[in-house]
Amino acid sequence: MKAHDLSSYNLDEMPYINKGLEGIVAFSTTKSFIDGQKGDLIYSGYNIHTLAENATFEEVCFLLWYDRLPTKKELNELTSHLDKHRHLPEEVMTYIRTANPDAEPMAILRSAVSMLSSYTVEPTSDEMQNILNDAILMTAKIPSIIAAYDRVRNGKEILEPLPGESTAANFLYMLNGEKPGDAAIKTMDLCLILHAEHGMNASTFTTRTIASTMSDIYSAVTGAIGSLKGPLHGGANTAVMNMLLEMGKDGDVDVEAYIKDRLVKKEKVMGFGHRVYKTFDPRAHHLQKMSKKLSVETGHEKLYDWSMTILNTMKSEKNIDPNVDFFSATVYYSIGIQPDLYTAIFAMSRISGWTAHYMEQWANNRLVRPRALYIGEKNLDWTPIENR
Ligand code: SDX
Repeated sequence: MKAHDLSSYNLDEMPYINKGLEGIVAFSTTKSFIDGQKGDLIYSGYNIHTLAENATFEEVCFLLWYDRLPTKKELNELTSHLDKHRHLPEEVMTYIRTANPDAEPMAILRSAVSMLSSYTVEPTSDEMQNILNDAILMTAKIPSIIAAYDRVRNGKEILEPLPGESTAANFLYMLNGEKPGDAAIKTMDLCLILHAEHGMNASTFTTRTIASTMSDIYSAVTGAIGSLKGPLHGGANTAVMNMLLEMGKDGDVDVEAYIKDRLVKKEKVMGFGHRVYKTFDPRAHHLQKMSKKLSVETGHEKLYDWSMTILNTMKSEKNIDPNVDFFSATVYYSIGIQPDLYTAIFAMSRISGWTAHYMEQWANNRLVRPRALYIGEKNLDWTPIENR
């Protein structure tokens, strides 16, 4: 019998396998709701379009952590906590300064976040408050880590954060060394809002699985970063940009033919498809609008035109719509960010959702422990090593 031949098993007697856990409801949550048929997304009661129009990223963080909007005083308090924590410990700076400049930013981020567990806020007797303090600390420091690594690998000095500025403004400043304008801050802030939370995606599931063992929040976030990094998940935004750059490397390209060729070869077109959405991802509407506007402003119209050809080809050939990662790629490219940083920027936002889920799991925990169907052989006779 071959190890992967299922024909001799009575599958009715086996635990049911749901490949990729599709359709399985493993947790309850107040953090977000997705209607994949209608293309609706809600964060703790608020439609994503309402938040995109009105909120700041910091307000969204508070909303996800507390399930309500902050008062002015609470928002000011959160902002000053974030301000206080944006600086990196010297040991983390040393790690970043001495890291391989060719490393993937997500690998650097994963290790640097793991290091932060040794530099936590002084614990109090309130366990949930301690967890929230750690969540705020990581939310503050992740942009500093990403910007610092990008500067070091480009031979530039690491910059200190600017007090009193938002996460979006600080990130752009620490990355580029110039105070960003209002439009750039708004663009980055909106991107952070749109990426903050999304139900039981793979990295959030990773977070909750690690939380369920009662491991610490740094372990959970480190695991989540590893999960987000993959190209089927958050890594898709970098893959989208690499695909666009590869398409354009020899000048003009027949975009439709390029995409059709990929589909014939059964290659995935990155930034398209979604396990839950069977229609346009509501986040992609905002990102598409930004991508269009920025591409005109920055002379990257060609990239936007190609994106639209890809979108139309995917729709007509496969009836598949873009997800959050498709237009975010050209938005970041238009504002001058290196493609390999895009997934780290996703993490810089999703830290809010991950940590909200960590706290939710902690408050009502049961160990996550599914089953696997064993399809290997059983009770083999032992073969002495010299006879193998
Ligand atoms: C994110 O879960 C979340 O919420 C994630 C996320 C979040 O905010 O956290 O929204 C962020 O991760 C977005 C997804 C980023 N990934 C990509 O863009 C990579 C490309 N897309 C895929 O590989 C795919 O669509 C997934 C991974 C996103 C979803 O995979 P599923 O649900 O397992 O679907 P599947 O691979 O089984 O595909 C079903 C069918 C297949 O065709 P058939 O074999 O049935 O004929 O759709 C086809 C697939 O071939 N298909 C694609 C495709 N996506 C699906 N074909 C070509 N290109 C694609 N992108």
